[in-house]
Amino acid sequence: MTISREIDPAAKADIEKFERMLELYLNGELEEDRFRIFRLNNGIYGQRQGGHNQMVRVKIPYGRLQPEQLEMLAYIAETYSRGWAHITTRQNIQLHFVQLENIPQVMRDLNSVGLTTREACGDTVRNITGCHLAGACPYEVLDISPWAEATFRHLLRNPYSQRLPRKFKINFSGCATDCGQAMFNDVGVIAVMRPREDGTVEPGFRVFFAGGLGANPHAAQALEEFTPREQLLPTIEAALRTFDHYGNRDNKLRARMKWLLDTMGVDELRERILKERKLLLAATTWAEGIPETVQQEGDGPAGVSTAVDPT
Ligand code: HEM
Ligand code: SF4
Repeated sequence: MTISREIDPAAKADIEKFERMLELYLNGELEEDRFRIFRLNNGIYGQRQGGHNQMVRVKIPYGRLQPEQLEMLAYIAETYSRGWAHITTRQNIQLHFVQLENIPQVMRDLNSVGLTTREACGDTVRNITGCHLAGACPYEVLDISPWAEATFRHLLRNPYSQRLPRKFKINFSGCATDCGQAMFNDVGVIAVMRPREDGTVEPGFRVFFAGGLGANPHAAQALEEFTPREQLLPTIEAALRTFDHYGNRDNKLRARMKWLLDTMGVDELRERILKERKLLLAATTWAEGIPETVQQEGDGPAGVSTAVDPT
C-alpha cells in the first residue's frame, strides 16, 4: 500500500523503540513482564491462543475516520489479520491474529495515515471517544470534534498518561442527550449553554468525573456548574493529575477513579481537582486560551437548515 503521509517523528521514534524492545525480547534479553507492559502501552495485546498471535487495537479518536484510513485498515486486515476487524464500543478498531514480528510494519502503515495504537491499552489515557453525530447533529450545542482532537493531541505521549494507577477514559457529548455516555467515564464532557447578562448565551461545558462500569458501577459526578471553553483542557488535565497523585497503586482491582471517589469522598476529590486546576493555570508552561486545533477547525454547531426538508 502506498504511504500517503510522512510519519510523525514522535511516532517514528515509538516504532523504532518497539523494534529494539522486540528484538531484545525475541533474543531472550528482556523479561516477559517488562515487554508485556511495554507492548500493552503500545496497544498490542497477547491472545489466549498463545504463540506470537497479537490483537492490535487502533484508536479512532471520537470515531472520525477518513477514507484513506479506512482503506489502510482494510489493507492491514487482509495482509496481516483475517480479512476483517472489530469495531468496539469505545471507538477502537481491533485486528486479531497479527504476528508479533509484523507489528512494527503494521504500526508504520497505520501511522502513515495518521492512526496510532499508542496508549490504546495499559494504565494510560485510552481512546478519547465522542458522540456519534458530532459535527452533523441538529441538537449539538457545539461541535465537540475539535475539542476531542485537541484533548487527544494534548494527552497522547503526555508524561501523565504513561504510568497511571489504572486506565483513564474520557468522552465527549455535544448535548445533554449524552449519546457518548459521559456518565460512565473517568471524565465525561457535555457541551452546554449558560445565559450571559446581555441575554445571549455562552457555549461551554459541564464536566463529570469518576464514573465507571464493571461489577461496581458508578454514575459520574458533576465537577462544577459550567466550565468555560478556555478552561476545558486544564480541567481535564487537573482531573488526570489528581488521579495520578492519589489513585490506588496497591490494588489494581480498586484503582479506577471511581474507587478514589469512594475512599476520598466526592467533595474532597472535587476540591482537589479544582485546586490542581488553579495551580496548573498558574504554571508558566501552560498555554492559555482556546486550543489551536479548535481555533483552526472551529467548533460551531452543525445547526439546522430551513432550506432543506429531511428525507
Ligand atoms: C448484560 C451484561 C453486561 C453488559 C451489557 C455490559 C456492558 C458493558 C459495556 C457497554 C461496557 C463499556 C465498554 C467500553 O468501555 O466500551 C462495559 C464495561 C465493563 N464491564 Fe460490562 N456489561 C455486562 C456485564 C458485566 C459484568 C457481569 C461484569 C463483571 C462482573 C462486567 C465488567 C465490566 C468491566 C470491568 C467494564 C469496564 C469498566 C469501565 O471501563 O468503566 N460487565 N460493560
Ligand atoms: S449527544 Fe447530542 S449532539 Fe451528540 S449525537 Fe447525541 S443528540 Fe447529537
